[in-house]
Amino acid sequence: MHYRTALGYFILPAMVAVVTVAACAPRHPTEDRVPPSAMKEALSYKAPFGDARTAQPEIVAGGKALYEGKGRCALCHGTSGKGDGPAAHMHPPHPPRDFTDCAFQKEREDGELFWIIKNGSPGTGMKPMIPGMLSEEDGWKLVAYIRTFCTAHS
Ligand code: HEC
Repeated sequence: MHYRTALGYFILPAMVAVVTVAACAPRHPTEDRVPPSAMKEALSYKAPFGDARTAQPEIVAGGKALYEGKGRCALCHGTSGKGDGPAAHMHPPHPPRDFTDCAFQKEREDGELFWIIKNGSPGTGMKPMIPGMLSEEDGWKLVAYIRTFCTAHS
């Protein structure tokens, strides 16, 4: 077949298909979400109250209020944290994160979770929330609350 025809009918469409599938395919929850170019910045973010996994109960309670209220996180992530909120189905092929997944929790540093709350997860239904909707202080309280969904501590 003529080179141009082959390019037009097979090669280009095949390339477009591969790129489209790669861009849309769900990624495993433990795969990094912070883009490589921003990882250094994300890892430099630290909660003002220290390790979010051992945050004081008042901070966690503040995070819960934001999660279920102003932040609207429960809409997608569910009050259960399992990613089963009423709007969860609206986000294929990237479902809202299941925060009860301890393998995911273990894989993430606090700064990575904060970075995503701040900047969103590019190309998914997880949109940037800071500073438009929430303050940085709110963001850290939310990280502390998110940490409580993994209850199996190893
Ligand atoms: C409109 C739906 C929606 C809302 C509302 C929402 N999220 Fe998400 N969230 C998502 C989706 C979808 C993903 C998965 C993105 C991905 O796979 O990269 C996600 C992923 C995340 C992650 C995990 C990122 C990672 O490291 O893998 C965090 C943390 C998060 N959301 C926090 C929040 C917080 C906190 C709120 C409320 C302030 C919130 N989300 C509100 C849809 C939502």
